[in-house]
Amino acid sequence: MLTPGLLFLLSGLARLLAATALIFCATYSLEKFLEISIPTNASFVAVIFGTPAVIAAKLAWDSYSDKRRARALGAVEVPQWAGKWPGSLDVLLLVLKKFKSGYPADGFWEPIEKLGPVLNIRVLWINQIFTCQPEHIKALLATQFNNFEKGKVFHSRMETVLGTGVFNSDGDMWKFHRSMTRPFFSRDRITHFDIFERHADEAITAMKDRLRGGYAIDFQDVMARFTLDSATEFLFGKCVHSLAAGLPYPHGDNLNAHRESNPADRFAKAFGEAQDVIALRTRAMVVWPLLEIMKDGTKEPMKVVNEYLEPILQDGIERQKRAEEAGAVKSDNQDEIDEDETLLDHLVKHTKDVTILKDEILNIMIAGRDTTAATLTFAIYALAMYPHVLKKLRGEIMDKVGPTRRLTYDDIREMKYLRAFINETLRLFPPVPFNVRDSIGETTLPPTTPGGKPFYIPARTSVIYTDFMMHRRKDLWGPDALEFDPDRFLDERLHKYLTPNPFIFLPFNAGPRICLGQQFAYNETSFMLVKLLQKFDGFTLDEAAQPPDSRIPASWVNVPGRQSMERFFPKMHLTMYAHKGLWIKMNEASNDSSAA
Ligand code: HEM
Ligand SMILES: *[C@@H]1O[C@H](CO)[C@@H](O)[C@H](O)[C@H]1NC(C)=O
Ligand SMILES: *[C@@H]1O[C@H](CO)[C@@H](O)[C@H](O)[C@H]1NC(C)=O
Ligand SMILES: *[C@@H]1O[C@H](CO)[C@@H](O)[C@H](O)[C@H]1NC(C)=O
Repeated sequence: MLTPGLLFLLSGLARLLAATALIFCATYSLEKFLEISIPTNASFVAVIFGTPAVIAAKLAWDSYSDKRRARALGAVEVPQWAGKWPGSLDVLLLVLKKFKSGYPADGFWEPIEKLGPVLNIRVLWINQIFTCQPEHIKALLATQFNNFEKGKVFHSRMETVLGTGVFNSDGDMWKFHRSMTRPFFSRDRITHFDIFERHADEAITAMKDRLRGGYAIDFQDVMARFTLDSATEFLFGKCVHSLAAGLPYPHGDNLNAHRESNPADRFAKAFGEAQDVIALRTRAMVVWPLLEIMKDGTKEPMKVVNEYLEPILQDGIERQKRAEEAGAVKSDNQDEIDEDETLLDHLVKHTKDVTILKDEILNIMIAGRDTTAATLTFAIYALAMYPHVLKKLRGEIMDKVGPTRRLTYDDIREMKYLRAFINETLRLFPPVPFNVRDSIGETTLPPTTPGGKPFYIPARTSVIYTDFMMHRRKDLWGPDALEFDPDRFLDERLHKYLTPNPFIFLPFNAGPRICLGQQFAYNETSFMLVKLLQKFDGFTLDEAAQPPDSRIPASWVNVPGRQSMERFFPKMHLTMYAHKGLWIKMNEASNDSSAA
């Protein structure tokens, strides 16, 4: 069976053999037809060293022509973050190591400070641009949208998990998926609030039960269950009941052994594993297939995911077929959406292809579920860390909604501090911290200094961009950029930094591929936060309940920046999350706690 690693090695070998054969033929024909005699050892040398020489010559030529093209366009080349080893392999190793055990973006601040906000990480002599400059991200996502795509490399890394869904396609395929999905998000859907309410109540009951038993809870796990149950219900009308499976106990508690493995848990676990694999592929850059020589790492988890989803999709297709047979569907009206229609109901009007349906649903689950659960997790972390923020947020909630009433759309619109609080959470902890686009043709990105020259980007070059680092830059957000302070979205700092330069804040991306679920995410997050603060008033991190290998490494204390203040371990696959959960305790609120 061909694994990604074997394919990679075989194609490398084939290229090497082809080059050798070519050189062999060349020396042979020189001798045979032109009767130029070449000593045997010389042709031997040519065969052995010919291939590396050809590669070296091609690299030298590319490098020369990039310089020339840059000059012709009045641009400069992107400064290189050069390693000490050939091909900057030490840089690759550093990135992989930090990815495994470091804080997000660890290792990247030093070169950025030295070389500026845009770098070329030329591992193995392949250009890999890296930027945290707002004007560059704006170009990639908006002003030069047509010249940047997710690209073949991204696609090939993600394909075994994401297929060709909206998240992982380009061009016409992307347009097809986006237009098929968009109408679902563009209407006021009251039913969402009913769904949120049911599952939020269930989550709160489960948490209360556990807390009353004296245990800490893994808040991230509860939110992942809440968003999974909500997402499955609104995506395909069938809640997977992961909250009903019960919450895990803290690390080392033998009650965990009695929790039976339920299908929703298995699905969620497999889904997370598959995402870990594709994230590692991204981090390993060009050599990722070498990590998967023995097997395609996504194969087993995806089997679990597919087995879970397929019956649900078949069910949706059957329902639609029956409706069509009964003449209950007007086919000219595909974009009309009924109040209680799920995304699956909507999609099966467009296609009955199980693979397309599965890709689409899975893409939206990846896009929408972990991101929202992460936002809620980071939000609670902030409330546990910053009591004055908790007090202010609670004050607004008690003022506008009170201790028991259900949140409405109109409330959300009026709750400025709530929104600023969510924004501040997304600023310091953006759930999608790193992303990538490939150039199609050659182009330039704007200068990073006044009067400076633009940067030359060759054709078919991969550009990594990071909102995570951009959101923490003091030159863009002010000297207090590393502090958690929602008021920066409300006071004079808003007019000083964000209003004149809106591209410094991009948790949802921008341009034609901006997050489809942005409003949905604000709504779901707001709904859950309001419920939580109505029911609970104290939040404390419980580091003892945290599995030992997920506690903050002692070495972090001496690192400058937020890393030294952090009390949880942020990690990332496609999205950012708390390593091994966020274990907390909460106090139940009494009814007249508006003064708390
Ligand atoms: C706080 C929560 C969320 C954050 C931070 C977030 C962030 C993002 C980002 C950064 C992208 C761009 C990815 C790229 O093009 O490379 C994106 C795309 C997308 N998001 Fe979200 N998202 C969130 C919630 C949601 C929710 C709840 C849904 C749906 C229910 C959703 C659906 C999508 C879809 C479908 C796309 C793909 C759009 C396209 O490529 O055309 N997102 N999101
Ligand atoms: C989210 O809430 C707003 C009101 O704040 C409402 O207008 C909008 O339709 C909701 N959007 C979604 C996708 O639920
Ligand atoms: C939060 O950020 C969004 C941009 O994503 C912006 O439209 C909104 O005005 C911000 N709200 C507040 C209160 O900061
Ligand atoms: C507060 O009081 C109301 C009515 O007395 C009750 O229905 C509600 O459950 C109470 N809420 C809490 C958080 O105890």
